[in-house]
Amino acid sequence: MKIVTLLFVSVFFVFSGVVYGAGADLYKGKCASCHGKAGEGSAALAKMLKVDNAKLALNSATTQKLSNAELLKVTSDGRGKMPAYKGKLKDDELKQLVDFIRTLKK
Ligand code: HEC
Repeated sequence: MKIVTLLFVSVFFVFSGVVYGAGADLYKGKCASCHGKAGEGSAALAKMLKVDNAKLALNSATTQKLSNAELLKVTSDGRGKMPAYKGKLKDDELKQLVDFIRTLKK
């Protein structure tokens, strides 16, 4: 009985590790250049894009208080200088990114 529980728990952790990893990798590859590795934004990119770096910071209270639906919408449809990723990324990848943005919370 204990073994079964242990197996169940390990499978769960491996699985959540995979999901977390996918979002993290996508973020590193597609988003970190503008939004910073830890979601802190990028002063250099902000200057280049002529936007306030606060707009690039995804770890900020402003971004973190948005709903998952709102984060998903901006990531899918883009906004201003933020590129749209609908069609470039699969629906479940967009959701993994939203989950990953949550882990950036300060
Ligand atoms: C070319 C630079 C660039 C890249 C690459 C980029 N973004 Fe953005 N992103 C922006 C800019 C600029 C804004 C601010 C848009 C505005 O409101 O003017 C933004 C805004 C956002 C917001 C809204 C934040 C808020 O508080 O409203 C989210 C969510 C977001 N980006 C997610 C992502 C994700 C996820 C990726 C990777 C798939 C990504 N971005 C890639 C430039 C970028």
